[in-house]
Amino acid sequence: MKRNANYDNLEQSYLFSTIAKKVNEFAQNNPDKKIIRLGIGDVTKPLCPAVINAMHKAVDEMSVQETFRGYGPEQGYDFLRTAVQNYYKNYNVDLELDEIFISDGAKSDLGNILDLFDNDNTVLVPNPVYPVYVDTNLMAGRNVKFIDANEENEFLPLPDNSVKADLIYICSPNNPTGAAYNRKQLAELVKYALNNNAIILYDAAYEAFIEDNDIPHSIFEIDGARNCAIEFCSLSKTAGFTGTRCGYTIVPNALGKLNKMWVRRQTTKFNGVPYIVQRGAEAVFTKEGMKEIRVNIDYYKKNAKIISDTLKECGIWHVGGKHSPYIWLKCPNNMKSWEFFDYLLKNAQVVGTPGAGFGRNGEGFFRLTSFGSYENTLEAMERFKQLF
Ligand code: MLT
Repeated sequence: MKRNANYDNLEQSYLFSTIAKKVNEFAQNNPDKKIIRLGIGDVTKPLCPAVINAMHKAVDEMSVQETFRGYGPEQGYDFLRTAVQNYYKNYNVDLELDEIFISDGAKSDLGNILDLFDNDNTVLVPNPVYPVYVDTNLMAGRNVKFIDANEENEFLPLPDNSVKADLIYICSPNNPTGAAYNRKQLAELVKYALNNNAIILYDAAYEAFIEDNDIPHSIFEIDGARNCAIEFCSLSKTAGFTGTRCGYTIVPNALGKLNKMWVRRQTTKFNGVPYIVQRGAEAVFTKEGMKEIRVNIDYYKKNAKIISDTLKECGIWHVGGKHSPYIWLKCPNNMKSWEFFDYLLKNAQVVGTPGAGFGRNGEGFFRLTSFGSYENTLEAMERFKQLF
C-alpha cells in the first residue's frame, strides 16, 4: 500500500475544524462565558415555510406505495432542474436541462469536478481564498499558482496574459472578502480564459446577496462564458440549506466532452440528492419561496450593516457586507490574524475567522459573518465598542 503523500502538503486540519477545536477548548475552560459565533458562514434562520411544506408533502409521498421513490436520477429530478433553468432566465441565461446537475452543495462539486482534469494542469487561485479550492488540488498533487488579492486591487484580482493557467477559480461575491466582480471585470476574465484555453471554475454560492445590476449573478451572463466556464451554486446560503444539502452545477454543452464526462462521473460516483430535499429545493424557486428566502437574506443583510456601522464607528478598516454576508476587516493595532482571533475570544468571547486561514494575503485580516442572530450580532458589536 502506498498512501497519497500529497496529504502531507495540507495544513494539519481544515480551517473551520481548527477554529471549532479552539472555541470548544475555550468553552470548556470558561463555562460561565457566553460565546458569540460569527466565524463559519453557517446560517441560523430556519428553513422557510414553502420549503418545509414541500418536504412534508414529499415525506408523505415516500410513505405510500404508489408514490414511493427509490434511486433518483444522478443528475437530479427534472422538476428541480426545470426550476433552476427558469431561475437563470431571470438573468437572461438560457440553459439546456442537460447542462444542469443537482448536487449536495457547491463544496462537494468544487472538489469532485477535478476528476475531469488531468493532474498536469496548472491551477490559478486568488489569495486569500476559500480553502477548498487549494486543498482539493493539493490532494491530487496539482501545481497551484496564486494571484494576489489585496487592498490595491480591492480584493478582485484578474490574471493578465503573462500568467499561464489551465484552471482558474473565482468566487464572486467572494468568500472570504465579500468583494464582487462587475460585468466589465468578468468579461476580461472570460477573454483571458478563451485566449488561454483555460476553464473558469466559478463559485456563485453567494449570488443571492447581490444588490447591484452591474454585478452578474452568473458567469453565463457574460458573452463567451459558455465556452470556458463551469458554475457552482448552492442553496446553503440562499435558502438556509447548510444542513439540508442541495446545490447545482452548470456544465455547458459548449465545453465539448466535459459535459458528458461529468455525466459519466456522476452516474458512477454519485447517487443523487434525496427526493425529499429536491422537493424542498424546488419550493425555493416558487414565487412564495423566493419571497420567504428574501426575508431571511434581508435579515442577514441588516446584521451586516450593524457590523459595518460598528467597525466604522471604531475606525476599523473593512470591506464587504454589501453583496455578501461576509465582512472583511483589518485587525486593529496591527495584530496578526490568529493573534486577533485569540484576543477577541478571550476579551469579548466573539468568534471570527482569521484571514490568514484563507492564505498568505489574508494575514492581518479577519472575517466576520452576518449569519448570526440579530440579538447576538448586536451584542457582539457592543462588545467590540467596549474593546476598541
Ligand atoms: C465559510 O464559512 O467559509 C463557509 O461556511 C464554508 C462553506 O460554505 O463550506
